[in-house]
Order: sequence, then structure tokens, then C-alpha cells
Amino acid sequence: MGAGIPPLRDTRCMLLTELDLPSYDHIDPTVSGEAFHAALGDLARETWVARGSMGYAVLEREAGNAVLRDRRMAFPALELLALQGVTAGPIWDRTADGLMVQSGEAHNRLRKQLAPAFTPRATERLRPRLRELVAELWEPVAAAGHVEFVKTVAEPLPSMAIAELLGVQGDAPLLARWSIALQEVFKFRLGEVAGEVEAAYDEARSYVFAKLAERRKNPGDDLISVLAAGTELDDDDYVTLICSVISGGTDTTEAQLAHGLRLFAQHPDQWALLADKPELAEQAVEEVLRYEPITPFTARIATEDLELREVTVPRGTVLFVCAATANRDPAAFVDPDRFVITRVPSAVLTFGFGAHYCVGAYLARAELTEAFTYLAPRTPDLHLDGEPVFGPTTGIYAMQSLPLAWSVR
Ligand code: HEM
Repeated sequence: MGAGIPPLRDTRCMLLTELDLPSYDHIDPTVSGEAFHAALGDLARETWVARGSMGYAVLEREAGNAVLRDRRMAFPALELLALQGVTAGPIWDRTADGLMVQSGEAHNRLRKQLAPAFTPRATERLRPRLRELVAELWEPVAAAGHVEFVKTVAEPLPSMAIAELLGVQGDAPLLARWSIALQEVFKFRLGEVAGEVEAAYDEARSYVFAKLAERRKNPGDDLISVLAAGTELDDDDYVTLICSVISGGTDTTEAQLAHGLRLFAQHPDQWALLADKPELAEQAVEEVLRYEPITPFTARIATEDLELREVTVPRGTVLFVCAATANRDPAAFVDPDRFVITRVPSAVLTFGFGAHYCVGAYLARAELTEAFTYLAPRTPDLHLDGEPVFGPTTGIYAMQSLPLAWSVR
């Protein structure tokens, strides 16, 4: 990858669609953990771009960055729906309104309403509460010496954090349920779950409409109140924004937290180091984000013909930028397949890049930092207490179950 790989043979001015490229379709989405990385890594050593049935995978970090920061590239949410056979109806309409689908001025107009709530400074205000939430979840299981981590901590924490942000503390389980359903849009099995997704959209939108009205009468200092006081957008847009926060901020952080604890259980020396040196927590978070990005791919579609590494990408081409390989690009990271929390951090693609860069990146980092800082000194000898169960690597790459054990002293 990176500087080590020469451009594809004779590709100058050739169309991407006409190149003889390796395929990435053989990578089974149910193959997970290091086997998933090994398969992608082999491919990335062979080529910076591979062909698949739904588009092209861009495997190298520099090319991935170029795709994501190119304003002629849009997020292909509607095209991904069409590939799943959905071309009209409520799911189509709601997706078409969403933040990720907008580009240019329409996107800026929506995004700038959310951005102030997610700055590092705004996030710091939530941090003490995040710390308390981790403790509240952990204390009941601390003395047991073993736990199923996903259900106990990873799943509840992010929806509790989003509920704090929105000022709807008691409703965290509802937010978690909607988030799971709304994210189905990107998991390529809408045929099976379209009814559930439609119901979740309806429920979430009615709920948020009602909350906006309520906060106009009784404002607080939460995000719904801030948006309810706004005059630049109409209520439909505010509801869309709040739904993006609910759907984007819950099962993403859950998955990253669970993968993080799995990685530490598999690298006990790194967990012991963190317990000894809590000042490494932020670096530890960056290393977890680098090593196991729970969004292994983010997508773009070319809105016009453009050049990428001397290859012409025709308008309408879908590209899947692969954070899983970009984050292990040897041109950017020394010994990239080693998990080491003392690594000097360098930008990862886990939160995307460019106009759609994850709005909640600071919040996600704060949740992970607080969880790792709290748990490392309290779980000496952390290890797997059974087989972890991985979700598919498409969409959000979750952990379905993570049995952990540690020494109780
Ligand atoms: C570890 C946790 C998370 C990961 C790995 C993650 C990853 C991502 C990725 C890959 C994107 C698309 C970026 C692109 O294509 O360039 C994105 C967008 C987004 N994320 Fe996150 N995310 C996380 C947590 C959060 C949280 C906590 C929130 C909200 C509170 C959030 C809200 C959003 C929103 C609203 C967008 C759309 C931004 C836009 O279109 O402008 N995410 N995220």
C-alpha cells in the first residue's frame, strides 16, 4: 500500500471501470477479527483499488483520503437503498432528507446547527456525567469477576450519553432501539426488516416532534432545546437532525467500546500498561479506533467524471473507502498489525473525512476514554471468558457478545 505500491500497470487515463482489477467479493462478511484484516491486507498488498459487485473498494490511505475530501463525491445513501431494491416509500423519503445524503450548501446549512453541540468544549461539559454513567453500569457487576460486556456496558452507555445530550435521560432504551433499526438501512438486508425500520422512523419522528414542542414551552440547556429555539430551519429539518444524532451516536460507540475491550482482553500487557498509566487513555482510544474501525468502509459516489491516481472514475461510480486497510497502511503506520497504545497517533479514517466527517467524533472519544480509564485499574488480568461473538463486517461491525473475566482482589 501507500508509497510502496506502484500505480496499476498502464492505467494512465484509463477508465476505472475498464481496468482488470482483483475482486474483493470473496471476502466473506461473516469472517471477522484478524482473519478479516488478513484477507483485506492481502488484497491491499496487491492493489490500491479492487472491484466488487456493488462498487470499488479503495484500500490505500492516501487515495481514501482523496476520495473523502473531494467535494465532487457524495454519500450514496439512495443508491445503496436502490441496490437493496428500495426506490420509493417512507424509508426512501426519510433517507433522502437525511444529513449524510445532502451535499454542498444544503449539507452545511443542516450541519452547522448541530456542530456547536459537538465541539471539544461542549463535549467536555458532558464528561463528568459520562464518568458517572460508566461507574453506575459497572458497580453492580464489579464484584462478580465476570460479565457479558456488550449487554452490561457497551450497549447501554452510548444511548445514555445521547439521552443526556438530548435531555431525555429516562428514554435511553428507546433511543437504543431506534438507533439499531435506523442503521439497518446500511446493512444490506432491508428486504427482511423494512417494516421494523419504517415503524422506528415513525415512532422516533413523532417522539422528537413532541419533544421539540415541549422544549419550546419549557426550555433547558440540552440539544433539543437549543434546536427548538432555532429559527433557521423548519421542524422537519430539526427532527431529521435529532434522528441523525440518535441513529449515528448509539450502536457505533457501542461497537467500538466492545471491540476495544475485546482487544484489551487479547492484549493483556496493553491493558496493564493503561491501568498503570491512565495518562495513556487518549492514545489507547486512538489505537483502538485505528486497529479495529467499526465502520470498516464508508461510501461515496462520483457526481462527475474525475481523476484518482491517474485513473478516470466515471460519474455514478460507487467507491467504498476502506478504513480497515487505510488504518493499517504501512506508509503511515510502523508495524501496523501490532496493537500498541503507546503509538504516536496519526489521523485514522474511522470517522471518515471531509464534509461528512463524523459529527460525534469527540463525544465518541470521550465515552471511550472514560470507559477505559475507569475499567483498566478495576479489572486486573482481564481475559476472554468464552468465545466472543462478532457481527458481520458490513455496515457497523458490532460485537454481539463479549464474555470477559478478571481478578477480584
Ligand atoms: C466510535 C464511534 C463512531 C464512529 C466509528 C463513527 C463513524 C462515522 C462515520 C464513518 C461517518 C461517515 C463519515 C464519512 O463518510 O466521511 C459518520 C458520520 C456521522 N456520525 Fe459518527 N461515528 C461514531 C459516533 C458518533 C456519535 C457519538 C454521533 C452523535 C452523537 C455520531 C453522529 C454522526 C453523524 C450525525 C454523522 C453524519 C455527518 C454528516 O453527514 O455530516 N457518530 N460517523
